[in-house]
Amino acid sequence: MTSIVIYATKKGSTGLYAKTFAEKNDYQIFEYTQAPPEELASAEKIFYFGSVYAGNVLGLDELKKKISTSQQITIISVGLTSKNDQEKLAEIHNGIMKIFPEAKMFHLRGRLEKEQLKLPEKLIVKMISKASKKKAAHEKLNIEEAIEKVADIGSVDYINLEELEIIK
Ligand SMILES: Cc1cc2nc3c(=O)[nH]c(=O)nc-3n(C[C@H](O)[C@H](O)[C@H](O)COP(=O)(O)O)c2cc1C
Repeated sequence: MTSIVIYATKKGSTGLYAKTFAEKNDYQIFEYTQAPPEELASAEKIFYFGSVYAGNVLGLDELKKKISTSQQITIISVGLTSKNDQEKLAEIHNGIMKIFPEAKMFHLRGRLEKEQLKLPEKLIVKMISKASKKKAAHEKLNIEEAIEKVADIGSVDYINLEELEIIK
């Protein structure tokens, strides 16, 4: 079976997961805007790694236009949401299912560095952090704790390449 890896990233963490996965499995890999249409169309299985911004996985609408329903698709979302943040994770997965109801799904945690953020993103981080600080510790989601750390100490990194082992 021909399998390929496609990835969509803004700051690099999703690219790192995708490249490591492709190397380990010896699959061809393309950034989502660079994937040649013939390679996409001829792959039987597609592993799509996409980072999550405002609850949505990058690039899924574009991907939908380029592949057919006969192709198997596995979507790996990468975000600061953890598996403990069940509602947030469900939102991400529901968004994926609206576009790809048949997709197999996995979620991995990424990283975020304040230095890499554009001004509007910095403002969002500041806003979420401020709201999170008003919550009691036991009420805070893992993603909120992570965003607070980005605002306060400048970065978080939850990348765990060993998690790639579960993706088949
Ligand atoms: C403006 C902004 C919005 C974000 N929204 C989400 C989100 O809704 N859910 C999530 O899990 N992570 C969210 N993140 C965190 C990113 O998904 C995380 O840093 C990821 O590793 C980035 O992937 P990339 O390095 O491939 O771009 C957000 C980050 C920023 C800066």
